[in-house]
Amino acid sequence: MSDLQDQIMRALSTVIEPELHRDIVSLNMVRDLHIEGQTAFFTLVLTTPACPLKDVFQRLCHEAIVGKVPNITAIQIKWDAQVPTDRRIHGRLDVPMRSIIAVASGKGGVGKSTVSTNLAVALAEAGARVGLIDGDILNPNIPQMTGLSVGHPAVEDGKMIPLEAYGVKIMSTGFLTTPDKPLILRGPMLHGAIRQLFTDVEWGDLDYMIVDLPPGTGDAPLSLAQSFPLTGVIVVTQPQEVAVADALRSIAMFETLNVPILGVVENMTGDFFGQGGGEKLAQDRGVPFLGRIPLDAEVRKGGDSGRPIVVVEPDNPAGLAFQTLAQNTAARISVVMLQSSDVIPLNIIG
Ligand SMILES: Nc1ncnc2c1ncn2[C@@H]1O[C@H](COP(=O)(O)OP(=O)(O)O)[C@@H](O)[C@H]1O
Ligand SMILES: [Mg+2]
Repeated sequence: MSDLQDQIMRALSTVIEPELHRDIVSLNMVRDLHIEGQTAFFTLVLTTPACPLKDVFQRLCHEAIVGKVPNITAIQIKWDAQVPTDRRIHGRLDVPMRSIIAVASGKGGVGKSTVSTNLAVALAEAGARVGLIDGDILNPNIPQMTGLSVGHPAVEDGKMIPLEAYGVKIMSTGFLTTPDKPLILRGPMLHGAIRQLFTDVEWGDLDYMIVDLPPGTGDAPLSLAQSFPLTGVIVVTQPQEVAVADALRSIAMFETLNVPILGVVENMTGDFFGQGGGEKLAQDRGVPFLGRIPLDAEVRKGGDSGRPIVVVEPDNPAGLAFQTLAQNTAARISVVMLQSSDVIPLNIIG
């Protein structure tokens, strides 16, 4: 490395990643530094393609270098991303996914499937490789919400090929049954069915696997949380008190199981159900508040028609809220993963 490159790296080592609280050089985020004329070119490898902080990094790097390192008058950053790998997944499942994120709620109807779908699509739109498992085995809604209600997965070499919508790979028991012939499963069989959605499907490499859980603290969410190494869980609640009380039970269950709580989402905020219950719950439990999604008929229409609101109306307040939620969630996943010793951090992936 030339003397000038050395000086630039030293300057960049004063830039602190705002979420991870470590400098970007020791996090090994800076790659491929070279200088042309008076411009420093380098790649910044983020921990998620859905990073909301690109503008901040651009400014911090500029401030650290230009005017501080002699002869450099401009910087040019190329963006890349590598989601860290939750190593526990590979110890226990033979599946190529870097993280598994469960979406849970205390009660049904609060918008778990809606949040799972829009979150998955928003992450995919940001450039991540995303899978979505419909973990509500007995009441699968994901096929309808993603417009795949008539789909049927192909089988190759004994594994099912997931269907794909809006850049997300999707698997649901809804693809394997018809509405008038529901699956009737209990205990161990239910458990087996959920497991098969992970292991008997050709997922390919994924950054984020989103799992839409059935509501409550019953058998199915419990068995899922116990049999899969969950990177973290998002708890969805409506703002009103009865929903919040149920969400609290859900949080307590995952805490007991040592599943990191990524945060709380308040869905259907507005005049009808009120506002603020989810944020207060997060504060009371000392967990992050990931965002609120307004109650909006367009969200419901998007679910019914299989065209998620983040796709059809990204600039509508609810569409924007889901994009912000995806960014907050992705940032939070990075923090949780880099705090854990079970995670292969960026600087080892290198
Ligand atoms: N923010 C929202 N605004 C309006 N309707 C919503 C919103 N979120 C969800 N819905 C609708 O509420 C119903 C229940 O949502 P769903 O995601 O199926 O809940 P759950 O999976 O928790 O049972 C669905 O018809 C869905 O379209
Ligand atoms: Mg649901």
